[in-house]
Amino acid sequence: MNTSSTPIEIPYQTGKVAVLADLHLDSYRNIGKEPFESHGLDSSLQWAELDALIIAGDLANTPFSNWHAVFAYLSRFMDPSRTIIFPGNHDYYMGFLNADDELEKLAEAAGVHFAQQREVRHGDDRYLCTTLWTDFALLGDVQNAMSVALRNMNDYVQISKRLETGPLSPFELLGRPQQAAITPEDILSLHKAQRQWLEDRLAEPHWVPNGRSFVVTHHGPHPDAAGQIDDLTPAFHSDLTPLFDQHWIDGWYFGHSHRRLAAQVGSTPVRNVSVGFPLEKHGPEELPLEELCLVPLPGASG
Ligand SMILES: [Fe+2]
Repeated sequence: MNTSSTPIEIPYQTGKVAVLADLHLDSYRNIGKEPFESHGLDSSLQWAELDALIIAGDLANTPFSNWHAVFAYLSRFMDPSRTIIFPGNHDYYMGFLNADDELEKLAEAAGVHFAQQREVRHGDDRYLCTTLWTDFALLGDVQNAMSVALRNMNDYVQISKRLETGPLSPFELLGRPQQAAITPEDILSLHKAQRQWLEDRLAEPHWVPNGRSFVVTHHGPHPDAAGQIDDLTPAFHSDLTPLFDQHWIDGWYFGHSHRRLAAQVGSTPVRNVSVGFPLEKHGPEELPLEELCLVPLPGASG
């Protein structure tokens, strides 16, 4: 069954939803800390009042070792049936880029919703969720951006892809590679597929007149929410201005670059809601996470 076509329905009670990204639980546990407690989110968020918690990727490195601990940790704050997750780049470490079905099984075993290329429905709101990745085109030179990413990002060492072997006999498979490290070209093609999914969904009429449409991604959608830009920034952010221009989007939440910045792109508030690594420095231009992460209630100005 292709679950990606089935929306996830979250029961509406208080209407309150929080979106966070980049939990990186294993990085905190390695130094004896916890992510929400380290940033005061355990007390600053009214957890009992939330209808849903969405985590936009980077739950932890090496999911087959660490996701069970992530889900146990999250369940202290939020019932798994109201917790929605999807992978960031780190959630593919020591795993396969083209094996989302295996990650989905890990989430399902914990009773958590897996929302890679899936729509979440809550009241009259829809949340379109996908990792997104990047088009490497932010600075106009895709080839250069790809080679900078290949040289500087652990993704290209830590993430593999399964290779299609076709209907070969065990004898024919002997000595034949069945996996390989990913390349920036793999990331670009996945970005195109996920971006197309997003555009197709945004083009579908909302099921309620005046219903709201939110987008939640791991990677960034616009340079205005990127902070300082350098040669590596195209590996983190794309410029999706045409998509913002063509579709009504009530809010866009993302993570990946760990800079808690907000921008207004046309009519859309864009917010980086990263928890981020422990001991990471946050500049004075960054905004309070406990405010950024709360989706405005319908009718409230956001
Ligand atoms: Fe991250």
